[in-house]
Amino acid sequence: MRGLFTLQTLSTQKIQEIIDLALAFKGGKSSKKYPGKKMATLFFENSTRTQYSFQTAMINLGISVIGFNASASSVNKGETLYDTVRTFESLGMDGVVIRHSKDDYYKELENIKMPIFNGGDGAANHPTQSLLDLMTIYEEYGHFAGLKVCMIGDISHSRVAHGDLEIMKRLGMEVYISGPSEFNDGCAPYLTMDEAIEKCDVIMLLRVQFERHQEKMKMTVSEYHKLYGLTEERVNKMKKNAIIMHPAPINRGVEIADSVAECEKSRIYKQMTNGVFVRMAVISMVLDGNLWFY
Ligand code: CP
Repeated sequence: MRGLFTLQTLSTQKIQEIIDLALAFKGGKSSKKYPGKKMATLFFENSTRTQYSFQTAMINLGISVIGFNASASSVNKGETLYDTVRTFESLGMDGVVIRHSKDDYYKELENIKMPIFNGGDGAANHPTQSLLDLMTIYEEYGHFAGLKVCMIGDISHSRVAHGDLEIMKRLGMEVYISGPSEFNDGCAPYLTMDEAIEKCDVIMLLRVQFERHQEKMKMTVSEYHKLYGLTEERVNKMKKNAIIMHPAPINRGVEIADSVAECEKSRIYKQMTNGVFVRMAVISMVLDGNLWFY
């Protein structure tokens, strides 16, 4: 299969190459174009950032973009994921981006020859989110090894947490988790909020994913904010050069105070900007045949 599904099978050297190309696009040092190419974005789950930054990346690369509305498609007549994707391949697409609620959905698509870019599968992977997170950290510090990062919040339902933690460890970062015990799945050592705030270079907040919860959260959102939210008081205790990240969408007043979301330490909107350049880099490398994932 061709495309990007997970970062787990990608070397740290390739990841650095993607970040370097994304920085070249951002700095205007590369202006590659792919006229005549067509790509579609097949989102079976809601998305603002991933879907539209992939589309922006395609437009920046001179690629024609085909949108897809799952609820108005033949998915509602029972068409399978495989047949939907096979249809877009038959229409002559040069690649598709897919987001789906099922973990590892791409394993059903092994007969598809056109490139597939994973825009998120269940609670498993979100590789371009991990890449844009890494690009943002690299722009800030110029390296990864030795940096301390803590993911705070709804760890167990987060594909971002699971994807980021695996690659961050391989890049030599010290990774920790924090937040309510009901969301702690043991994927990294646990820090209290006070320890995380005082110790870490990157504080990465995660959205409470109410829509994925089988059982109601044990505390109210105001209790959550008091115990685990990033408040102005906590920001004031962060290390001098530490930064705040969040994959978004953000629940202002829950995992982050409204007044903190755009403060001087926040890189949340920079992450979104970097998402366009990372996606340009990944699409470009796959279309050029410089990168075969999986
Ligand atoms: N960060 C992220 O994946 O956002 P969307 O769900 O809006 O794409």
